[in-house]
Amino acid sequence: MMIDSYLNRILCADCLTTMKEMPGNSIDLVVTSPPYNLKNSTGNGMKPCTTSGKWANAAKPDFKLVPKSNGVGDVWEFTQEMKNGHPAPFPVALIDRIIGSTNAQNAQIVLDPFMGSGTTAIVAMGLKRNYIGIELSPDYCRMEA
Ligand SMILES: C[S@@+](CC[C@H](N)C(=O)[O-])C[C@H]1O[C@@H](n2cnc3c(N)ncnc32)[C@H](O)[C@@H]1O
Repeated sequence: MMIDSYLNRILCADCLTTMKEMPGNSIDLVVTSPPYNLKNSTGNGMKPCTTSGKWANAAKPDFKLVPKSNGVGDVWEFTQEMKNGHPAPFPVALIDRIIGSTNAQNAQIVLDPFMGSGTTAIVAMGLKRNYIGIELSPDYCRMEA
């Protein structure tokens, strides 16, 4: 499928499957918060990370931040999102800062593969960017509808 058919939709699916089906080099920016505290959960949770922290083939060469967007420092404080039925929503202001800091020319298509309650989609729409959301839980997908 062409990337256009994914745009501005929330797909109720496993992101690991869906991302493999998407055309390569089609996403400008990924903003996400994957499930966490998995080491504390029962079952076969995450294993400790043992890599160096650097990704092979990372950080797109043409990607640009808008001027002065790095002036906000590296510790950001936001009020917790309270009016949201999801247990771990992003604060809207956090995602607004992240997407808004990217140049619209080269961050037109924003993917959130762990969409939760839909915060990334709401902010992307407000900033006139295209979004693609993927969320496994039918309950959270209904929340986004
Ligand atoms: C930390 S929450 C994301 C919260 C989101 N940032 C928000 O603002 O509401 C992680 C989400 O990933 C979803 N999830 C877990 N495994 C997934 C998978 N394989 N594919 C897609 N979504 C998945 C969970 O259902 C959960 O809603």
